[in-house]
Amino acid sequence: MAVENIPVREGKPNLKDYEKARESFTWDEVKKNFSWSETGKVNMAYEAVDRHAEDPKKKNKTALLYSSPDREEKVTFSDLSQSSNQFANVLKKYGVSKGDRVFLFMPRSPEFYTSFFGILKVGAIAGPLFEAFMEQAVRDRLQDSGASVLITTPDLLGRVPQDDLPDLKKIVLVGEHDQSGDKYIDYETEMNAASTDFDMEWVDLEDGMLLHYTSGSTGKPKGVYHVHNAMIQHYATAEWVLDLKEDDVYWCTADPGWVTGTSYGIFAPWLHGVTNVVRGGRFTPEDWYGTLEKYEVTVWYTAPTALRKLMSAGEEAVKKHALSPLRHILSVGEPLNPEVISWGLDAFDLRIHDTWWMTETGAQLIVNFPSMEIRPGSMGKPIPGVEASIVDNEGNELPPNQMGNLAIKEGWPSMMRAIWNRPEKYESYFINGWYVSGDSAYKDEDGYFWFQGRLDDVINTSGERVGPFEVESKLIEHPAVSEAGVIGKPDPERGEIIKAFITLNDGYEDSDELREDIRKFVKTGLSAHAAPRELEVKDSIPKTRSGKIMRRLLKSWELGLPTGDTSTLEE
Ligand code: PRX
Repeated sequence: MAVENIPVREGKPNLKDYEKARESFTWDEVKKNFSWSETGKVNMAYEAVDRHAEDPKKKNKTALLYSSPDREEKVTFSDLSQSSNQFANVLKKYGVSKGDRVFLFMPRSPEFYTSFFGILKVGAIAGPLFEAFMEQAVRDRLQDSGASVLITTPDLLGRVPQDDLPDLKKIVLVGEHDQSGDKYIDYETEMNAASTDFDMEWVDLEDGMLLHYTSGSTGKPKGVYHVHNAMIQHYATAEWVLDLKEDDVYWCTADPGWVTGTSYGIFAPWLHGVTNVVRGGRFTPEDWYGTLEKYEVTVWYTAPTALRKLMSAGEEAVKKHALSPLRHILSVGEPLNPEVISWGLDAFDLRIHDTWWMTETGAQLIVNFPSMEIRPGSMGKPIPGVEASIVDNEGNELPPNQMGNLAIKEGWPSMMRAIWNRPEKYESYFINGWYVSGDSAYKDEDGYFWFQGRLDDVINTSGERVGPFEVESKLIEHPAVSEAGVIGKPDPERGEIIKAFITLNDGYEDSDELREDIRKFVKTGLSAHAAPRELEVKDSIPKTRSGKIMRRLLKSWELGLPTGDTSTLEE
C-alpha cells in the first residue's frame, strides 16, 4: 500500500527550517547554552539535574513522574539532586572514583535514576544493563568492563554470577534482603546515613560517562563508550527533533538498558528541565494508552514494534482515551512502516516522525523534523552539523538513488569514543573519514534517506539488536546441540524473529519437547529476547572451508531466495 507524503502541519510544533539552518551552523552555537562553555568544568549530572535544582523556579518542578503496576511517585529536581548526592557519597565511601565502572542491573525505578546520577557525580562510568538479562549476559558485560560495583535488586541477584568476576568488589542491594558479608551494601541503610551535600567531581568533556553493550555479527557484545561531550547533541536534538519546551510532559518508552533509554529517556529531557514520565512493567496497549492519558503526555518517543501492537489492538482501544494533550510523536529502532504512519494520522491525528541513529552514534543523526514533509518509509534527513552519505566499500560517495553503505562523516559530538578494550574493533568502523553504520540505504534526489536493511548478520527483533554469535554460542552449550546457525526471519509484528538451525549430538532425537527445552535453555541462560522463536533440526549446518557458519545461505534457504555465490562452501 502506497502512503502519500504528509505535508508539514502548522500549529504547535517548532517549524524552524533546519535545512536552511545547516548552511551556517556550527556546534559552538549549542555550547553557549552550557555554563561549562565559560568555566570549563563539566558534568552531565550538573547540567541535567543540579542546575535545575539550583534554580528557584525549577527546583520544585517534577523531574520524574514514575509509575509501575504497584508504585507511583513524583520526584522533583531538588529531590533528585539531593538523593544522587547521597548516593555519590555512598560510592565515594566505598572507594569509587573517576573512571571506575559502576553497573546498574535493575528495573526502572526512582532508585535507578538516583544511582545513575550518583555514579556520574563521582566521575565514574555508568553501565546500565537490561533487567531481562540472564546470567551469561550479565557475566559477559561485567567481565569485559571490569566493573567494580554493581547496583541490583534482591530479585535479580540470582542472575549475578558469583565467580569469575575478580574486579567486582561490591554489590549494592536495593530492597529488602537477607544477604550479609562484606561484599554487600544495603542501599537504604547507606542512603539514610549519607549527606545530601556532595562536591561534584568536575570532569573533562572527553571523560567517560557511559558504557552501553551492543551486539555485532561476530563475537561477544561490545562496550560502546560515550563521554560527557555527547550532551551537546542530546541538548540540540531535544529542541530540534523532540521539539521539547518548558511545559512539556515527555515520555520515552525505552528502557535505560538500551541507548534510547539513556540519551532520550534521561539526558535529552532533563538537559531542558522537562518533566519525564517513566513507566515500569510490561507492555499492554491499555496500559500505554492509559499512561498517555493519565499524565497528559505531550511528546512521545517510542518504537515501531510498540506502535504496531497498538495498531493491532484496534480503534476502540485508542478512542476510549482522551489524548488531546499529545502533540508530537517520534519513533526509532527499526523501519517505521508507512501503514503505521497512516494509522497514526487516524488514531492520533498526528504525524509519526521517524528518527535514525545507533548505540554507537549516541544521538539522533537522520530525522524527520516537524518542519519537513514526511515521506512515509524514509528516515528523513541529517541534522545540522552532521554530514550523511551513501558510500561504497572504499568510502567513495555514491550518487542519489544508488544503494550502498549508510555513512556519517566522522566528528559529531555524541559519537562513541571507543569500543571498550578493543581499539581494533573501533577502528574498523571507519573508512576514509566515514563512520560506516552497517546499514544499507539510498538517498533520493531531495536528500531523504531510505533504509534498506542490515549489511551484516545482526538481527533486529522488536527493535532490539541481537548478535547471532551470542545465541549460537549459548545453543551449543545445550547437551543436545552439536552445531547452530542463527538468522533473522522477517515477521510482520516484530520486524524480525530469531530462527535457529541446529544439528543434534548422537543419542538425541528431534521432538517438540527437545526443541522447547533448548529454547528455554537460551531464554534462561542469556535473555528472553535472544531466545529463538523457531528452531529447526538439520543434518548439517553450511559452513565455509574455514569453518564460518554461512548464515546468509541459511537465510536464503529459509526465504526461498537464490543462494548466490557458494564457492566457499565446505563440501
Ligand atoms: O539497523 C538500524 C536500526 O537499528 C540499528 C541500531 O540499533 P541500536 O544500536 O540498538 O540502536 C537503536 C536505537 C538508537 C541501526 O543500525 N535502526 C535504528 N533506527 C532505525 C533503524 N532502522 C530503520 N529505521 C530507523 N529509524
